[in-house]
Amino acid sequence: MRLREHISPSDPIVILTGAGISKESGLQTFRDPDGVWAKHKIEDVATPQAFATNPDAVLGFYNLRRAQMGDPEIQPNAAHAALGALEGIWPGGVLLVTQNIDDLHARGGSRNLIHMHGELAKTRCNACGDLTEGVGDIETAMVCGKCSVTGTLRPHVVWFGEMPLEMDRIGGALANCGLFVSIGTSGNVYPAAGFVEEARNHGAYTVELNLEESLGASLFQEGRYGPATEIVPAFVNELQALAQN
Ligand code: APR
Repeated sequence: MRLREHISPSDPIVILTGAGISKESGLQTFRDPDGVWAKHKIEDVATPQAFATNPDAVLGFYNLRRAQMGDPEIQPNAAHAALGALEGIWPGGVLLVTQNIDDLHARGGSRNLIHMHGELAKTRCNACGDLTEGVGDIETAMVCGKCSVTGTLRPHVVWFGEMPLEMDRIGGALANCGLFVSIGTSGNVYPAAGFVEEARNHGAYTVELNLEESLGASLFQEGRYGPATEIVPAFVNELQALAQN
């Protein structure tokens, strides 16, 4: 097995996930034919300019996504659960970096988790930065509980043109990991799409797990293709066997 030749149980692992891992839980991806960006224009709903010019449209878009995430039918799947379990199995430690704004990784048991594109379940004030937890709708008429300004509340998500979160911590982990795994992401959006090269430049072994080859597939040393609920648990089982030997 190639993996076994390249890593040892003391190697730290960094895992990057994208919308593909939540697809089988019932949440749409962004760029597949039935994806979110086939129905909405990015510039209308996912930029600071859109929020400044048409806040109702932006808030409505995210209110709908938050409601979908809260649907009792939407549950973590076998891939989320396998990654949650991996934290307790792998001696070298696991950092999970997700581009997803849903809460399925945390509900799947992952604790060492960075939401680099933010979290739908949090609300932030654009004026004072106050962060609150809650899954109800955000409306333009709402008043910030901290600075008392009206109309400044927004989802705690990273829009196009904004800086992803915790990049220093992610950069440090990519520089020190022995294995970098990318799961369910098309490789269209930077800086996440550049993580594979960053990790590889520092000597990590790199693996892509996806339904099909991503844009950056050739940058990975190994690729495994199929639905996340099948290939992720199988990959974690392999790591578990490696950790036990
Ligand atoms: N199992 C594994 N992979 C899957 C599955 C599945 N069941 N279904 C789809 N995929 C793959 C697709 O083949 C595609 O390569 O998941 C990938 C999803 O890609 P995108 O829709 O582009 O999502 P993502 O890469 O997460 O997007 C990155 O773009 O719009 C922004 O901020 C948004 O975080 C998002 C970022």
